[in-house]
Amino acid sequence: MLTLKDLKVAYGPIEVLHGISLEVPRGGIVSLIGANGAGKTTILNTISGLLIPASGTVSFEDRDITGYKPDQVIRMGIAQVPEGRKVFTNLTVYECLLMGGLVRRDKKQVQKDIETVYEMFPRLKERRRQLAGTLSGGEQEMLAFGRALVAKPRLLLLDEPSMGLAPKMITEVAQFILMVRDQGMTVLLVEQNSELALTISDYGYVLETGSIIMSDKACNLINNQEVRKAYMGL
Ligand SMILES: Nc1ncnc2c1ncn2[C@@H]1O[C@H](COP(=O)(O)OP(=O)(O)OP(=O)(O)O)[C@@H](O)[C@H]1O
Ligand SMILES: [Mg+2]
Repeated sequence: MLTLKDLKVAYGPIEVLHGISLEVPRGGIVSLIGANGAGKTTILNTISGLLIPASGTVSFEDRDITGYKPDQVIRMGIAQVPEGRKVFTNLTVYECLLMGGLVRRDKKQVQKDIETVYEMFPRLKERRRQLAGTLSGGEQEMLAFGRALVAKPRLLLLDEPSMGLAPKMITEVAQFILMVRDQGMTVLLVEQNSELALTISDYGYVLETGSIIMSDKACNLINNQEVRKAYMGL
């Protein structure tokens, strides 16, 4: 569904992705694990059009979308939940969800989809008139997730959804990811919490300082001694 081919991305003169190739097949969960600064966010931001690669290609559903602008990428069916959630703190929960639907033409359906998000996250419904900035970290993650769902993507990019959350909330986030997968969405999940990511993924890629150093079925990576030592502290 999504194919990255030999992507090289630089910030100014400094190249931080040195030729990334990866594949996300339809209907599954693929995770990308790696330490701080490995380049995980840079990969997602390149897919979503926030960064333009120096070379290489991004293809989605057999179309070359390299260099597409962020709003074009969303319209193509790819939504991103950014690192650190980045909800608009001065908007209400409802307004934030509405923002997710801005790219859609079928405005009537947007209201219905917001209702669906409320069913999925009853806490957001309770707090729908509250300013997003007053939500807890876990609730903001739900809101960022909900906003992405209102855009009705076929591919969802998640950047460290578990970061900074309490263990109970992390389990909930994992359940939500599995739920949207079950509804037919494809997920590319970036995580420093490798154990969580690999537990719910079908396939995983290991990123180290801008290069993929390993990739395998998630169940194999989770049992790989090198991966366990380097990324799970085991
Ligand atoms: N705007 C920027 N300008 C210059 N260098 C940047 C910029 N953003 C990121 N970098 C550098 O690019 C490299 C990759 O960063 P990136 O944020 O993609 O890593 P990451 O794997 O997402 O890390 P983390 O786990 O901390 O979120 C790092 O060396 C980082 O310092
Ligand atoms: Mg990051």
